[in-house]
Amino acid sequence: MCGKKDVPNDMSRAEEAEMKVIIDTDPGQDDAAAIMLALGSPEIELLGVTAVAGNVPLSLTERNARYVCELSGRTDVRVFAGADGPLKGDTVTAEHAHGKTGLDGPEIFEPSLTLQCTSAIDFIVETLMEEPVESVTICAIGPLTNIALALKKQPEIGRRIKRIVLMGGGYFAQGNVTPSAEFNIYADPEAATIVFACEAPIVMMPLDVTHKILTTKERMDRLAAIGNNASEALVKMLTFYGRHTSAKYGGDGGPLHDPTTVAWLLCPDLFNGRMCNVEIETQSPLTRGATVVDWWGVTKRRKNALVVQNADAEGFFKLLTERVANLI
Ligand code: BDR
Ligand code: CA
Repeated sequence: MCGKKDVPNDMSRAEEAEMKVIIDTDPGQDDAAAIMLALGSPEIELLGVTAVAGNVPLSLTERNARYVCELSGRTDVRVFAGADGPLKGDTVTAEHAHGKTGLDGPEIFEPSLTLQCTSAIDFIVETLMEEPVESVTICAIGPLTNIALALKKQPEIGRRIKRIVLMGGGYFAQGNVTPSAEFNIYADPEAATIVFACEAPIVMMPLDVTHKILTTKERMDRLAAIGNNASEALVKMLTFYGRHTSAKYGGDGGPLHDPTTVAWLLCPDLFNGRMCNVEIETQSPLTRGATVVDWWGVTKRRKNALVVQNADAEGFFKLLTERVANLI
């Protein structure tokens, strides 16, 4: 379980991998950490990275996804662009937290890794229809628009997806963009409704757990000590991001949200939670985007998600550090 693995050379990468994964993302410094964790983990065959508008507009999230892969020495990864706004209403972005580029912190170079011509939605649908049933996991770490559009386009993919591990929502911790809503869900509550209603098993990483995974100085020092390109850039990113969030919440460092999804795939024993029903509020102007979690089982509604509540934060950072060390 969670043993140290060396990165295989490109020839054997796909053969060694145990999990086929698509990362749907809006990078975002914490998204970058999630992508790096996947790229540094030989258990994962990253089929593609699909970008969605979120923290910053789509033109930046797709560029940032390409930058992170190239920075990590992985110009072989295919990056696709998807939705440039939510299913309904205005696009919500989060430059206040992530900076103008979405990845403020390091100097960002223009990647030579080019964007795929196929849309992210078509890529998701085609991949799930072509790959064996229940062989592909989706890590969804931005607004859920791309996944919802793929499910609308080809509903059959719902039963073909092995699992959706998503970062979003909050129950005990409530919200981070409104008092009751977390950013990824708030940015597209209609999409979240579609995703939580689909047939695929869902693992939900809410603020309840990510607020316990803090980028403390000591943990950042350990990441910096790796001294490769990826770790140097990541530490700059997370230092920028942590400055904003530690000022907001208090504490040593800020919460690290998105890489918990990839960490759960690699090492589920680092986390615990319970199966619950989760529904999304879309109507109330006061609580739009809230995740209504039936934590105490007071309804008979379908338990549609494993809602994670706690994590071994030290174990998580050990894993992240070990895997980023596998990059260039
Ligand atoms: C989520 O919102 C984004 O700003 C982060 O990248 C993360 O996915 C946290 O609420
Ligand atoms: Ca994100």
